[in-house]
Amino acid sequence: MNKTYFIKTFGCQSNKSDSERIAGDYEARGYTEAKSWRDCDELVVNTCAIRQRAEDRVKGFLLNAIKEAQPKIILTGCMTHHGADKLKKLLPMVDEILPINEVGFNIAAIRKGQINAFVPISIGCNSFCSYCIVPYSRGREQSRPHADIINEVKSLVKNGYQEITLLGMNVNSWGLEKVGISLRKKLLSDKKFTREDLPAQAGLPSNQSQYLKPKTTPPFVKLLQEISVFLEIKVIRFMSSNPWDFHDELIEEIGRNKKIDRYVHLPIQSGSNAVLQRMNRGYTREDYEKIVAKLRKIDPQITIGTDIIVGFPGENKEEFQETLDLARKIKWQVAFVAIYSPRPGTAAWRLYPDDVPFPIKKKRWEILDKIINKDNLPERPKIV
Ligand code: 5AD
Ligand code: SF4
Repeated sequence: MNKTYFIKTFGCQSNKSDSERIAGDYEARGYTEAKSWRDCDELVVNTCAIRQRAEDRVKGFLLNAIKEAQPKIILTGCMTHHGADKLKKLLPMVDEILPINEVGFNIAAIRKGQINAFVPISIGCNSFCSYCIVPYSRGREQSRPHADIINEVKSLVKNGYQEITLLGMNVNSWGLEKVGISLRKKLLSDKKFTREDLPAQAGLPSNQSQYLKPKTTPPFVKLLQEISVFLEIKVIRFMSSNPWDFHDELIEEIGRNKKIDRYVHLPIQSGSNAVLQRMNRGYTREDYEKIVAKLRKIDPQITIGTDIIVGFPGENKEEFQETLDLARKIKWQVAFVAIYSPRPGTAAWRLYPDDVPFPIKKKRWEILDKIINKDNLPERPKIV
């Protein structure tokens, strides 16, 4: 009998996509998928570390799993950045660690869906938003080679897929990391800064796009155009996008190219410029409003969703009020509202005390969630 595996996935679409490739690797080695984690030989737990609650959920699952079954447990995903020693203490039931960057792009994915396919176009992240663990958990941004992406799309088309979701921590900067690296190198030669402190602490103006703005059509826009040429592909989605490099060329492409989904997910994180600066987001509320106005002008059918963090260090009443005001003004169709969770090792964790009391964070979460997700609209965009 073949050995069996089961993959339990926590977290975002990137983790789901990685799990499809891990499944591909198991199948290539002759394993078959078990129906449940209760009856597998090997249990892969693909973890999320974005907030403490995400890590707690992984721990809860593992404690439960070892009560009911005795598989070999392999831990992968974003919690692996803690390193083997810390993980051994935190999760002693784990037998093996599979570092996230060993998953890579090159294993053929085993997909459950038959219409929509995730296609990763980059791994890692260079944005260093001050609150975020991702640049540490997933490492530096690396674009997947153009030919590999196109070959995967071709094979998806052959297999009948009609919808493609391009995945990356910041898809807009696909193919541009060399520009970012040279900027970083230049700044790092001035010894005052560490990599993690860039770029806000380096005193760059809020809108980084003037530094990273490509002189020609951004490679990501060209990639969208190329994928649209496949007649069989009916819908193209992408996530995530950051406002700081959501260039006009991309907005124009969305306007022109109706294969691109009319739902745009554009995380704002806060409506207060002071908070955005502490978050090292690289844009202002006004920059964001301009992007939204352009998107809505180019196609009134476009719907926009967002991510917001409440209770970021130092967020006072007035700053929260600015987020509320912006929510009323922009009328996002959907918002993923999160309570700030300090992540050890990040710039916010080092620089700012977590000083908004939990009951206030919770209250702010409830108010925002109600305004955006409950009061606004009867109909919601479907987010894959
Ligand atoms: N605390 C709370 N929310 C966070 N996010 C990222 N890091 C944190 C954190 N430390 C949220 C952001 C991001 C989404 C994926 O998770 O809103 O857009
Ligand atoms: Fe995804 Fe970020 Fe969670 Fe990792 S930490 S699974 S990249 S949301």
